[in-house]
Amino acid sequence: MESDKEILVEYHQKYAAAKKRTCILVTAIVTAIVLIVTAVCTLGVYFGVYYSPENDKASIKPKSLMGQSCSDPCILNLVESIPDNLTFVKGAPLHSSTYEGIMSLMANAKETIEIASYYWTLNGQDLPYHDNSSWEGESILETLISSGRDKKIKIKIVQNKPKGRNNNTEALAKYAGAEVRTLDFDKLLGNGIIHTKMWLIDRKHFYVGSANLDWRSYTQVKELGAVIYNCPCMAKDMGKLFDVYWYLGVPGTTVPSSWPSSYSTDINSNTSMQIQYNGTAATTYLSSSPPPFCPNGRTVDIDAIVDVIHKADKFVYIAVMDYFPTTQFSRPRKECLLYQLSQRVRGKYHLPE
Ligand SMILES: *[C@@H]1O[C@H](CO)[C@@H](O)[C@H](O)[C@H]1NC(C)=O
Ligand SMILES: *[C@@H]1O[C@H](CO)[C@@H](O)[C@H](O)[C@H]1NC(C)=O
Ligand SMILES: *[C@@H]1O[C@H](CO)[C@@H](O)[C@H](O)[C@H]1NC(C)=O
Ligand SMILES: *[C@@H]1O[C@H](CO)[C@@H](O)[C@H](O)[C@H]1NC(C)=O
Ligand SMILES: *[C@@H]1O[C@H](CO)[C@@H](O)[C@H](O)[C@H]1NC(C)=O
Repeated sequence: MESDKEILVEYHQKYAAAKKRTCILVTAIVTAIVLIVTAVCTLGVYFGVYYSPENDKASIKPKSLMGQSCSDPCILNLVESIPDNLTFVKGAPLHSSTYEGIMSLMANAKETIEIASYYWTLNGQDLPYHDNSSWEGESILETLISSGRDKKIKIKIVQNKPKGRNNNTEALAKYAGAEVRTLDFDKLLGNGIIHTKMWLIDRKHFYVGSANLDWRSYTQVKELGAVIYNCPCMAKDMGKLFDVYWYLGVPGTTVPSSWPSSYSTDINSNTSMQIQYNGTAATTYLSSSPPPFCPNGRTVDIDAIVDVIHKADKFVYIAVMDYFPTTQFSRPRKECLLYQLSQRVRGKYHLPE
């Protein structure tokens, strides 16, 4: 199984020659993007979680644009994966690991675990090379299997269509009673992938971030995510995103031209949810892409990114796997997400081309 990067290169080769060139795939590049804009940060591109611990900019919006407020006692934990043996200077900020975050989510599960994923290689033997650090991925897979098999937790998984077989999800279906649905983007949209990494627990707690279901994502790759606990108001909205994938995972399904109202949301860039995380006021909404997967009211990822950039007072920090707005794909550059992004924030910021 290949990493994100290898898959991107392959898609590039495959689609560079294609007549109908779209930019859906390019969105994959920026999924690991993290924008930090003066105390407002967006995690992931498919799902932007805004967290503004102080001085919330939304407070200067007219009242009519304020969304609902949520009284859930939400706890937000930033989690990250740091490659093994990469050591930082003394005093550098230290966050919990992605591994610890996922394990604690599973430990909290009482009824359901819903996972949206790209590919699965949690076992050391799922890849042609080996390292002892695969134990964290293996431990996540074992714990997930035992959640279904022993704790009788209902497991629902949406995965991207695998090239061959997906040994991990087959094992989960066989031993843990997991229900697995597969998104076939070639059939649904012509091309593309599901690049989302979401863990949703009892529609109450969730993880969203950049870590694939790959042992390397816990010990070999730099990843960032958020684990949010005790937050049904946002977890339910995350559930609506999961429901979109779940619907599209039925074989033969087509993307509806208009989504039924049960998939709609009123939590978006115009009317964000007012939440206290760890007792600190913040505004939040979840964004998604591609646009055909966005029912009424759902902010599209690129709009969310531009929105958060425009909220900057002092700086914009961006962390991405690759940043090639104009050269990565040989297609008309105006179609490319990163190019559109650089155009939409031009004048205010200078982004490299
Ligand atoms: C929120 O509180 C939790 C639990 O007390 C803590 O682990 C976490 O680091 C806090 N999050 C932030 C962003 O300070
Ligand atoms: C990290 O360092 C230890 C001790 O030197 C070594 O055994 C291990 O292979 C290293 N891990 C990686 C991923 O390089
Ligand atoms: C890796 O694990 C194997 C089997 O558990 C062990 O024999 C070996 O010493 C370990 N290597 C390192 C560098 O920790
Ligand atoms: C997954 O692969 C391992 C080793 O390659 C094998 O032992 C196991 O039976 C496979 N599981 C499934 C469900 O195919
Ligand atoms: C937010 O408001 C603008 C302006 O009215 C509108 O064009 C846009 O579609 C709204 N966004 C969402 C996600 O509803």
